Amino acid sequence: MGSYDGRWQTVKVDIEDGIAWVTLNRPEKRNAMSPTLNREMVEVLETLEQDASAGVLVLTGAGDAWTAGMDLKEYFRETDAGPEILQEKIRREASQWQWKLLRMYAKPTIAMVNGWCFGGGFSPLVACDLAITADEATFGLSEINWGIPPGNLVSKALADTVGHRTALYYVMTGKTFSGPEAAAMGLVNQSVPRDQLREVTTALARELLDKNPVVLRAAKVGFKRCRELTWEQNEDYLYAKLDQSRLQDPEGGREQGMKQFLDDKSIKPGLQTYKR
Ligand code: COA
Repeated sequence: MGSYDGRWQTVKVDIEDGIAWVTLNRPEKRNAMSPTLNREMVEVLETLEQDASAGVLVLTGAGDAWTAGMDLKEYFRETDAGPEILQEKIRREASQWQWKLLRMYAKPTIAMVNGWCFGGGFSPLVACDLAITADEATFGLSEINWGIPPGNLVSKALADTVGHRTALYYVMTGKTFSGPEAAAMGLVNQSVPRDQLREVTTALARELLDKNPVVLRAAKVGFKRCRELTWEQNEDYLYAKLDQSRLQDPEGGREQGMKQFLDDKSIKPGLQTYKR
């Protein structure tokens, strides 16, 4: 177990066997993302990135919500009433963890969606590398229902994951959809009954913990960046990423993998990870 008990007011962190369980912890407000929660999440992510006991990060929510999105009272109404310059800081802290830190986080991340997921919640959902939801969860781009277009990177996150028609349908109607529907549209990897959610997420996290962490990081960052580059730029960039991972990898994974397959004949890399 990690030693973060009570360190943050709105976020709970437990580290168990290499998995950092990060729980948005305002269940009485359906884990709405307030300025305090946003500020604390920046700290949480920066802290866990440097904590060697955390190999994979799982982001979930306390109670029956993953997150009900941005806090309508503390993030919107109270900020509107304050000095304009304060809004800059409050927006920056929200973006900082919800997609800037999470998207290229140095460790693998899994969103474990246990319940309600609305509006601003889509930014961290898509910024996590992988996502598993409970069948019983309810998703929605509800902004249109209370009078704004989706803010922050919500539209971009949707455009990067689900198809054009599907994205616009939900952005423009604010209709909700279920866990299985989220899986069918590619917003999450898998939808499972809620009572299996933790077990399935743990199994996926363990699978990631078995991989070479340096190479895993290069693979995920390479994939995410390559969406924004041309084919020519990608050829340069992805080879540079490959060479960088070889240089930085203390295990010499590439050599080990080839040796175990070509010389020792002890693994089938098409079917399993090399023995670390
Ligand atoms: N911002 C601020 N407070 C929120 C909130 C949000 N996004 N979502 C829920 N809350 C608060 C409620 O105001 C309420 O607080 P109170 O007890 O002090 O009155 C508390 O959380 C419980 O909410 P309630 O609506 O009673 O819970 P519910 O389980 O019946 O419904 C939701 C859950 C998520 C369907 C409903 O709360 C909701 O529609 N929230 C807004 C979702 C949204 O549009 N988010 C987009 C923001 S970008």
